[in-house]
Amino acid sequence: GIHSYRAFSSKLTPSNYAFAFDIDGVLIKGKRTIPEARSAIRMLNGDNALGRKVPFVLLTNGGGVTEQAKAEQISNMLDVQISPEQVVLSHSPMQALVDQYKDKNVLVVGGKDRECFEVAKGYGFNNVIIPDDIHHWQSSVWPFRHPSRDSLSPDADSLDFSKIPIGAVMMFHDSRDWGRDIQIMLDVICSENGVVGTQKGDCTVQEIPIYFSNNDIIWSTEFPVPRLGQGSFKMALESVYKTLTGTNLQSTSYGKPYPTTYAFAEQVLGRINNGKKPSRIYAVGDNPAADIQGANNYGWSSILVRTGVFQEPGNSSHFPATSVCQHVEEAVKWVIQQEE
Ligand code: G3P
Ligand code: MG
Repeated sequence: GIHSYRAFSSKLTPSNYAFAFDIDGVLIKGKRTIPEARSAIRMLNGDNALGRKVPFVLLTNGGGVTEQAKAEQISNMLDVQISPEQVVLSHSPMQALVDQYKDKNVLVVGGKDRECFEVAKGYGFNNVIIPDDIHHWQSSVWPFRHPSRDSLSPDADSLDFSKIPIGAVMMFHDSRDWGRDIQIMLDVICSENGVVGTQKGDCTVQEIPIYFSNNDIIWSTEFPVPRLGQGSFKMALESVYKTLTGTNLQSTSYGKPYPTTYAFAEQVLGRINNGKKPSRIYAVGDNPAADIQGANNYGWSSILVRTGVFQEPGNSSHFPATSVCQHVEEAVKWVIQQEE
């Protein structure tokens, strides 16, 4: 019948436009689902008068888990169907670093327990170190507490870091212990050849590359006021490094608003849109400095919603969006009205 044909044809006809949804502050706030998110995603999954789906990705500065796990989490919270290939996490584009570092010892910082260890291994980094392993090796690294056993990597008991030169530091998600992680990152950066416990002569010459997966100063959860994000942690690390060495920390950042992340998301959208990059991409976000700045700079349309970080009247003064909506459902309806 017509419905099965339409359903069939929707698989073949690439769409001229697509969406990129931020997660925190747009679809969810911590453990709370934003009610309008459910209907917004359902509309794009076919529950609309168009008789076809509209492609979309989730484009978040969040992470610390696999794309599969995030897809399941959001699908369950919104009671919709989102596939892992539609999910771009803060560290998803960092898979491009695997060739360069796959056989080096890489310190991966942040996230819950050893989840980022698993993510990095899953990407193809073969020798992944996490701060808890170093802390477990010598508890005096950070004498104020001991790491819990379930946060250690499988080989933790056999790792002697006096013999393990670390070749790079990558932050995959928010630190759960800023003090401990700033200490260990500085230990690596200021060491001889990345060997923790050594002190290089001239610490103003930085040899160990540092990568951050997001620069969010703040982000939106169920708490009524935004929380500090990875960007604030980075500022804290930079400040201590500057005080200790007199020079500025050099690092590379991924995530919104940086172009690398948008190029990666466009590739994903092309793949889920039957190989055709959509002519127009609408980014929906709650953080002007990340979601709106990044989309505007990359030539996408941007829609700022009021359910997260941004709570001022009117549009963002620093990073004005194409359009401002109350919430994500209003944003989807606005775009469909423009496009259809
Ligand atoms: O750690 C997550 C936070 O930085 C922001 O995530 O989804 O608002 O980009 P999101
Ligand atoms: Mg957000």
